Amino acid sequence: MMRTRPLKVALLGCGVVGSEVARIMTTHADDLAARIGAPVELAGVAVRRPSRVREGIPADLITTDATALVKRGDIDVVVEVIGGIEPARTLITTAFEHGASVVSANKALLAQDGATLHAAAEEHDKDLYYEAAVAGAIPLIRPLRESLAGDKVNRVLGIVNGTTNFILDKMDSTGAGYQEALDEATALGYAEADPTADVEGFDAAAKAAILAGIAFHTRVRLDDVYREGMTEVTAADFASAKEMGCTIKLLAICERAADGGSVTARVHPAMIPLTHPLASVRGAYNAVFVESDAAGELMFYGPGAGGSPTASAVLGDLVAVCRNRLSGSTGPGESAYAQLPVSSMGEVVTRYHISLDVADKPGVLAQVATVFAEHDVSIDTVRQQGKDGEASLVVVTHRASDASLAGTVEALRSLDTVRGVASIMRVEGE
Ligand SMILES: NC(=O)c1ccc[n+]([C@@H]2O[C@H](COP(=O)([O-])OP(=O)(O)OC[C@H]3O[C@@H](n4cnc5c(N)ncnc54)[C@H](OP(=O)(O)O)[C@@H]3O)[C@@H](O)[C@H]2O)c1
Repeated sequence: MMRTRPLKVALLGCGVVGSEVARIMTTHADDLAARIGAPVELAGVAVRRPSRVREGIPADLITTDATALVKRGDIDVVVEVIGGIEPARTLITTAFEHGASVVSANKALLAQDGATLHAAAEEHDKDLYYEAAVAGAIPLIRPLRESLAGDKVNRVLGIVNGTTNFILDKMDSTGAGYQEALDEATALGYAEADPTADVEGFDAAAKAAILAGIAFHTRVRLDDVYREGMTEVTAADFASAKEMGCTIKLLAICERAADGGSVTARVHPAMIPLTHPLASVRGAYNAVFVESDAAGELMFYGPGAGGSPTASAVLGDLVAVCRNRLSGSTGPGESAYAQLPVSSMGEVVTRYHISLDVADKPGVLAQVATVFAEHDVSIDTVRQQGKDGEASLVVVTHRASDASLAGTVEALRSLDTVRGVASIMRVEGE
């Protein structure tokens, strides 16, 4: 039975994502109404620059007073696609106070202050949905929060930033250096004029915090996520990776410790075997690999950004929230009951690929091997290439803690025969 009174939607922001949300709401209005059981009406659109032409949006809906819009009292759902921390945070909490549920795409805000927003939603018995905040169009939040609610997730391993994947894929396929690949990404519109948030891993770290929190039913804040960017990855690293049958990806890795008593969340470049499904994620695509007790291995793949793909995720949330609204219910809120401690990077256990510049003379290999043994880091393979009194030594370790590896590297640097540590890369996905 279709209700005739429409559900009213306030759109905060009408940029790359918001303009697509408005377009799909208009062009798919009949289907959306049929799926929800009531028509949805765009009741207002808040922007910063009102004079800008917004195709398909009646001028009388545009306002610069977002606060007044969320305070109207007749708004059912506020869609926040402004981005950033403020005024988005205050607008969302004000929306809850005035009776609306909220759909947001704001990873930065959810990673930094998700707990406050969830508490506000719960206090006012409203929905807070944010599928678009992680990996654009890819259904991930809802599968983790709902479809896997009966399982135990142990690991989430993801390529969650399209810009960095584009750059690394270029380096891999063409042999280009970092700067050359970044320049191409910028020219093609895959990288922003200031790419810091992407290449230094801040964007992926925000997504890792959100994913870890949902996967492990534990509050994980942005500050809990270890982060390393990918600007230091070189063509030589890719050549080494190839020799090992690997490629290099910037990964967001959320893990439950082997004893189940703690979790970690981290973002850094890593080698992964070419046989791993994430190795075949090319260009600006995103993918997230989930390992759980009962389901085993699952992979979610698709476009992680862009106006239309991201709007698809926003619209999915809008439909869900509208359905809840009509049935007088709310969807699942924050689940942080497990309260597992978040361990530091030193406790992460993984394998390492270390490239050393050493003197090419007898006894060096034994000296280096002793340092690894003294720090409890077991060596899997060693490869040595010598030329004109200098040599490069590539060591691949078995699994060891990050703290042990850091101690090993410090000790190696103090050896006279070690001229330098050319690169250290974690090896994942085995
Ligand atoms: N773009 C993507 O591919 C993508 C993917 C996933 C998630 N997201 C997330 O989606 C959100 C929006 O991203 P976007 O790319 O659409 O950003 P955008 O293109 O910069 O659009 C931002 C919009 O917010 C409006 N705005 C800014 N400050 C405002 C204020 N104080 N009051 C009212 N309106 C204000 C802007 O108005 P004007 O139009 O007047 O400037 C603009 O319409 C962000 O949280 C982002 O992280 C984006």
